[in-house]
Amino acid sequence: MPETTFTPSAYTLYHCPVCQQKLQAIENRLICEKNHSFDRHKKGYVNLLMSHHKNSKAPGDNTEMVNGRRAFLRAGHYQAFANAIVAMASQCQQSDKPLQIVDAGCGEGFYTDQLQTQIDNSIVYGFDISKPAIAAAASNKNVEWSVASSTRPPFMDNSIDLIVSVFSRVEREAFLKILAPRGYVLYAGPGDQHLEGLRHIIYDQVNDYSSDKHQDYFGEGFTLVAEQSLQVPVNLDNNTSIKQLLSMTPHAHRVSKAGWARLENTQSLSDNGDFKLYLYQKKALV
Ligand SMILES: C[S@@+](CC[C@H](N)C(=O)[O-])C[C@H]1O[C@@H](n2cnc3c(N)ncnc32)[C@H](O)[C@@H]1O
Ligand SMILES: [Zn+2]
Repeated sequence: MPETTFTPSAYTLYHCPVCQQKLQAIENRLICEKNHSFDRHKKGYVNLLMSHHKNSKAPGDNTEMVNGRRAFLRAGHYQAFANAIVAMASQCQQSDKPLQIVDAGCGEGFYTDQLQTQIDNSIVYGFDISKPAIAAAASNKNVEWSVASSTRPPFMDNSIDLIVSVFSRVEREAFLKILAPRGYVLYAGPGDQHLEGLRHIIYDQVNDYSSDKHQDYFGEGFTLVAEQSLQVPVNLDNNTSIKQLLSMTPHAHRVSKAGWARLENTQSLSDNGDFKLYLYQKKALV
């Protein structure tokens, strides 16, 4: 366990999604100076997503996707990837002050949990637009969890040392706003050859994927300070875990009819996770 663990306290870096004033934790609520108040759910998280900022009634991953992701990730198939994320994130700790980390689009919290347990002297927030994802994540009581959107991350301006986005969105302007001066964004996502074996099962014709576009998420305002490629063997020996893996990917919505038939008949998969990690730093003057 780390030397310092974080339990939700009176002090948060959240801002009020209505008026953008600081939110203070009082008993089981977060409240701003103008008395806008947000109850903490009994599971521990707080909902800071305004209903008029939702683009559907239940945005983000649904319960089935959350459960599939949770089972797959917690079986350890991507552990080497998680270790690489934690190692890169650790580079951002450059003073004795606690490192304020936000996992944006954190899903059910697999990577968030590891950032919290493995980076000493850190305070970790995780948010996702999906309520079922955050409800599952909230079993870790040492992270501050919220339902919120990456387009309006609910944090004070210039307050966050590191934003982590794993296979999730990067909202350049919104991230720059909440990042402390010289703060970081760690983006981790797919490399060009990610899960080629799975793609050959589900598609009649496999298109090339180019990770070059990741760099376009950043541009002005950021400097690239570290980059890493990582290959992780993914060996699955049953149809259930192959389907769980598929449910975590954007491919799940695009499988052809013949692809589904091939998938149903697949009991084992020897594939490769091909990952790219990037660490960007906010420029001093933006
Ligand atoms: C591919 S999953 C990655 C989840 C997690 N980072 C992981 O790797 O396990 C993408 C996540 O982004 C969430 N999401 C989609 N749109 C979002 C938004 N506008 N703001 C925050 N999260 C969003 C989804 O609910 C989902 O949990
Ligand atoms: Zn307010």
